[in-house]
Amino acid sequence: MTEPRNLPRHVGIIMDGNGRWAQRQGRPRLEGHRAGADSVRDITRASRQLGIEALTLYAFSSQNWQRPVDEVTGLMQLLREFLIDERSEILDNAIRLEAIGDVERLPPIVKEPLDELRAASAHHRGMTLTLALSYGGRESIARAVRDAVRDAVAGKLAPDDVDVERFASYLPTSQLPPVDLLIRTSGEQRISNFMLWEIAYAELVFIDVQWPDFRREHLQTCLDQYAARERRFGLTSAQLASDLDLEG
Ligand code: IPE
Ligand code: IPE
Ligand code: MG
Repeated sequence: MTEPRNLPRHVGIIMDGNGRWAQRQGRPRLEGHRAGADSVRDITRASRQLGIEALTLYAFSSQNWQRPVDEVTGLMQLLREFLIDERSEILDNAIRLEAIGDVERLPPIVKEPLDELRAASAHHRGMTLTLALSYGGRESIARAVRDAVRDAVAGKLAPDDVDVERFASYLPTSQLPPVDLLIRTSGEQRISNFMLWEIAYAELVFIDVQWPDFRREHLQTCLDQYAARERRFGLTSAQLASDLDLEG
């Protein structure tokens, strides 16, 4: 078990490999997405039980809109089913559901249950489950710049006041703890436009398991790797050791 001290506060997951999982078995890609929903359920439940504060799942990227129309339509239908099927589990477990990304682009069949569950769970403090939907890290930064410039033009923001913290307050993740651990399944080792700003000091774990096969024991493997690492944030090991001595 991971020592509570070394448990990440915020875990991000790039849920990749649904299509390959299905194709490996000669089944349509959408079957992989459907099976992936079971992994989301298991990982959400496990994260909540472990005491992780925030879990952010990359479910659909800004670029994924360019996939074949049947796949996009099927994914939207699955997202709707997920939101409806998981509603009571989320509410019963004091989970707050959030979303980041260009959610205005989502069809009403997704947007409506999403908005409803966001509102119904807004007061929950057990864990924040954020779905990155129609999300891109660069798009998210561009939007933050747009909003900041708008404030500057309106006289509400002075250019000299824009530092790292102030800028971050314009990002959709501003209310979440910093991302401590970023996991990508499927064996690919890239970020694919996920939380570019937020992962500045995240520990990265790439695991060669397709998302539909990913279960809590795989999550535990990733957490163990995380716990064994030394996060230095630009300092030296000796500095970190003396800080720990001071903490007792
Ligand atoms: C991840 O699985 C889910 C989404 C991107 C929506 P993929 O659909 O990317 O699966 P692979 O990478 O093609 O196997
Ligand atoms: C990233 O996976 C997006 C999600 C997991 C939602 P992709 O499968 O779209 O990324 P690439 O195309 O392999 O970079
Ligand atoms: Mg993929």
